[in-house]
Amino acid sequence: MTLWYVARAAGVVAMIMFTLAATLGMVTSANRKPERRFWLQYVHRSAAVTGLVLLGAHVFAVIADSNVAISPTVLLWPFGSGYRPFAMAVGTLALYGLVLAAVAGAARGRLAHSQAFSKYWRSIHIAASVGWLLSIGHALLAGTDRSTPWMLAITVGCLAAVAGAGMYRASTYSAPNLVRTR
Ligand code: HEM
Repeated sequence: MTLWYVARAAGVVAMIMFTLAATLGMVTSANRKPERRFWLQYVHRSAAVTGLVLLGAHVFAVIADSNVAISPTVLLWPFGSGYRPFAMAVGTLALYGLVLAAVAGAARGRLAHSQAFSKYWRSIHIAASVGWLLSIGHALLAGTDRSTPWMLAITVGCLAAVAGAGMYRASTYSAPNLVRTR
């Protein structure tokens, strides 16, 4: 059972790390002070990388564990899992979104001189938000602990943190001409 516990614990902490990254990403873009932005960006990226490492551990453990039969091919064809197929498809699509955003983020520094890449980077980064939302959906659909009070509190807390950061970010724009006020 050890692997099964590792898998679930890694999944929960990965979800928290992606939530922290999403929250800080929004707070960073709402901040103008260079020094504060630097530190927020730093923690944003560190949380995202930690989340990806834990996601790797989560996926490795659920595939390696004999408690449930999940083939590695689910990573290539998300709809092919025999175990909780819909929840696994949502989780795999979340993984695609988060990995795509991470690869684009890593390439950003190297391709900073490319105007075309810089132009499209922001659009590609939306994959991270979609991936985060899908990961919340996956946790609500897949988890053994999904209906326990503590797991519900974590999941609702994650949703509330991102909603709060989104409202903070929105409050730093003044409609109708989207001029930043902070
Ligand atoms: C961003 C991607 C993902 C995140 C953040 C994530 C997170 C989680 C979380 C929080 C849980 C609930 C743990 C619990 O209730 O104890 C969970 C369960 C699970 N996840 Fe993921 N997951 C992701 C992707 C995947 C992928 C790609 C797979 C399969 C290839 C997968 C397979 C599973 C399995 C088998 C369970 C346990 C279901 C059960 O308890 O019966 N996850 N995941």
